[in-house]
Amino acid sequence: MIEVTPKTLASGAHVKGRSHWLVAFLCASLLGAVATAQDTGSAQLTINADQPGSTINPHVYGHFAEHLGRLIYEGIWVGEDSTIPNTRGIRNDVVAALKQIKVPVLRWPGGCFADEYHWRDGIGPRDGRPKRVNASWGGVDTNAFGTHEFFDLVEMLGAEAYINVNVGTGTTQEMMDWIEYMTSDSQSTLANLRRENGRDKPWKVTYIGIGNEMWGCGGNMRPEYFVDEYRKFATFVKDHSPDTKLQRIASGPHDDRYDWSEALMANSTKFMEGMSLHFYTLPTSDWKVKGSATQFGEDQWQSTMERTLRMKDYIQKHSAIMDKYDPEKKIGLIVAEWGTWYDAEPGKDQGALYQQNTVRDAVVAGVNLNLFNQHSDRVRMANIAQMINVLQAVILTDKEKMLLTPTYHVFDMYKVHQGATSIPVELQAPDYAFGALSVPSVSASASKDAKGTLHVSLVNLDPKSSRQLAITLKGVKAKQVTGQVLTGAAMNAMNTFEAPNTVKPSPFKSIKRSGERVTVELPAKSVVVLEIKR
Ligand code: AHR
Repeated sequence: MIEVTPKTLASGAHVKGRSHWLVAFLCASLLGAVATAQDTGSAQLTINADQPGSTINPHVYGHFAEHLGRLIYEGIWVGEDSTIPNTRGIRNDVVAALKQIKVPVLRWPGGCFADEYHWRDGIGPRDGRPKRVNASWGGVDTNAFGTHEFFDLVEMLGAEAYINVNVGTGTTQEMMDWIEYMTSDSQSTLANLRRENGRDKPWKVTYIGIGNEMWGCGGNMRPEYFVDEYRKFATFVKDHSPDTKLQRIASGPHDDRYDWSEALMANSTKFMEGMSLHFYTLPTSDWKVKGSATQFGEDQWQSTMERTLRMKDYIQKHSAIMDKYDPEKKIGLIVAEWGTWYDAEPGKDQGALYQQNTVRDAVVAGVNLNLFNQHSDRVRMANIAQMINVLQAVILTDKEKMLLTPTYHVFDMYKVHQGATSIPVELQAPDYAFGALSVPSVSASASKDAKGTLHVSLVNLDPKSSRQLAITLKGVKAKQVTGQVLTGAAMNAMNTFEAPNTVKPSPFKSIKRSGERVTVELPAKSVVVLEIKR
């Protein structure tokens, strides 16, 4: 993707003195459309629909549910006797909302919690299950939600399962037993125990995550130590059916821990199908004072944008390491935790990581999903952290009430990219600058679905100014262009339980067509998805 910043443009435009006019003229001619972009303040996007791209794995739109705060208990599990309408204890309203956005895959049970979870605690009659302190996040887990309940949810959603096994306080034997319990169709004691507990046929497990954040809460390991642990655990991930190949995901790096990727890739490519990457967007980049979810000014809007865009660098640099050892790109980069992380709301349980969600989060979601679409050759799955009531949630609940966050609506608008073919785009956009920081003002990605319909997702990162964007379509004759837009009156516009529909998508009308060109006006702080029918 070509990105041209105003600084680049200014170097041509601000040249002074007679002898420099020629240079300035040549620069302007060479940059051509770029100069236009600067002069008019507009941005330009070329969609190369005539060039091949890779498939956008639907799992890039995946989710993550940890035993943390009010995600599992209250957010999903209310129990069969609850007055909140439920099916076998699982909230109906939440399931219906998640089906609407086509949740393709769900990671469970953690997170840090995964490395203290013992699966046997969560099977058998619920009143006999042990109650355990949740040492990572506080409170006592009743284990009412265990393996059977998780798969009930996953099957209701039509999603695939990503089970994260315990390396930190678990054993290879415990992991092997769990895999056998879940996936064996034999008459073994473990498979029969599953039957006694109400499930005859094995479940479909797609991914086995081996450990979580092994450089941190998973055991504070050094990469050279974890590599051997990983190889040992990966060896004992056994397939129990000829047509199932469990995909093993190594607990990978966070942010710029390139040494971690290097160690794993140099020593374990034979034993992995995926390597995870975790990266959170904190407005301040300071884990002690992260910034408020709702009370922020333009300085923190801008620093949030600057930080979230680091995802691009992390994807590209970790991918470059992967390319060295896996040039055929057999191993997926799995962005298993991403999203905003703010200070917990004052007065709320600080360990529960509950945060509100605003238009800023919608913009962050749009930017990151565009990056995943653009890098679909290597990024095979991503799991927003986390699905309900925790961090950048798509759903918030308050007893019987439920609301859909701005982030939810972005997932709904972007679901058209799931399984489509990514189309290379070239974007030239002026920067949005505030204080000392500047970032490209527009983010874009495009894909073509099985029917040949194009979808273009666009984000205007500038919270104050709308941006004109001229789109050139190569290799496509557009018969019809329609769209949807999500924005809000203020940077912190949000949905509340009292006003749940303040931020929601609406039809996007600001579209002009002329031949191969489509011109749109992106409102300030907006996410737009265009549908281009041929
Ligand atoms: O998503 C919350 C926590 O963030 C996860 O448990 C952990 O993996 C990460 O540090």
